[in-house]
Amino acid sequence: MPGSIRSSAKAASFTESVIREMTRLAMEHDAINLAQGFPDFPAPEELKRAAQDAVAADLNQYPITWGEPELREAIAETYGRVYGMRVDPERNLCVTCGSTEAMISSMLGVLDPGDEVVIFEPYYENYGPDTIIAGAVPRYVTLREPDWTFDERELAAAFTERTRGIVVNTPNNPTGKVFSREELEAIATLCQRWDVIAFTDEIYEHITYDAHPHVPIATIPGMEDRTITISALSKTYAVTGWRVGWAVAPEDLIDGIRKVHDFLTVGAPTPLQHAGAVALRMPEAYYGTLRRDYEERRALMLSILEECGFAFAPPAGAYYVLTGISHLGFGSDVDLAHHMVERVGVAVVPGSSFYSEPRLGRGVVRFSFCKRLETLEEAGRRLRRLRPTDQGSVRW
Ligand SMILES: Cc1ncc(COP(=O)(O)O)c(C=O)c1O
Repeated sequence: MPGSIRSSAKAASFTESVIREMTRLAMEHDAINLAQGFPDFPAPEELKRAAQDAVAADLNQYPITWGEPELREAIAETYGRVYGMRVDPERNLCVTCGSTEAMISSMLGVLDPGDEVVIFEPYYENYGPDTIIAGAVPRYVTLREPDWTFDERELAAAFTERTRGIVVNTPNNPTGKVFSREELEAIATLCQRWDVIAFTDEIYEHITYDAHPHVPIATIPGMEDRTITISALSKTYAVTGWRVGWAVAPEDLIDGIRKVHDFLTVGAPTPLQHAGAVALRMPEAYYGTLRRDYEERRALMLSILEECGFAFAPPAGAYYVLTGISHLGFGSDVDLAHHMVERVGVAVVPGSSFYSEPRLGRGVVRFSFCKRLETLEEAGRRLRRLRPTDQGSVRW
């Protein structure tokens, strides 16, 4: 008979993050970490100075729970300038501890037990647990190669009277997909037909390739009042450890999000919010350089993967690439990922961790390329040592 000294049924219903587990193994085996998506290059000097200045100016106490006014104003002004969105810093914003907290506070603040949430898979691994913690039920719809799009009939079939939300992550982790306006319009039509809220994760909004435009679904007609737009400083400014993100939401939804956020975390770090206001006011040239640098990293990563025989569809955004592994003859993605981190010295993420049914991801692994060119070159030297095994072929 189970006693009371145990995890909750909710916590027991999902596993530890596979990505963070691969990071732990990378450290243990001194492997190059192409598993977790954090940069190994420095954050911009002016941001580091702004953070130091904020600490020195004694901006070290609790922030206003839903965000320091300077940061909220900078966020609202940015959404207006870049996307033409009307964001009132007093009524539409909640600053959070990264987009991770923005997503879970949004779900907890908006969803009721039994509500269903549509999630595209492969997906960033937090969305499943986020939904479960909120007491809701995930409904998965598969994105398929080569352009990682969805079947409109399949998506339509996932919407029912119980559907309350859909998670839209564009640019997408792990596929690198950037949802087109037409795809977002198809999603928007269903959201309006079924009275559904879009929870977006736009943390890679500034990292797109080949002139693919990032379109926030909140800008699609009819979606402004039913979208929670989530983003963060983490990826755009190479400060994943700062833990500053935000949710932009209609007034009717922001109250619930702010209340949950207050009781979960009180607020995001005060001095880093002030530095965040400086980040959002970086000159336009910063974003051009960011894109060009990522173009270069992507080109190097893809050329290494091609040379080593991995099959992939080039990512249109974000900084990941999902690759086929059938040429290597390993039993599964997990076997290969362990072999790579232990024997080859390169950590990747097994594809099964991005799917509701692990078998769907058995034939792929994810590489992240948010690294210095030297790091990627060294990873290339190691990857060239990876040889096929005779352990049987992978089912694709
Ligand atoms: C799609 C996506 N959302 C959220 C996060 C985490 O964001 P944050 O650092 O702002 O919590 C990541 C990190 O890899 C991600 O890939």
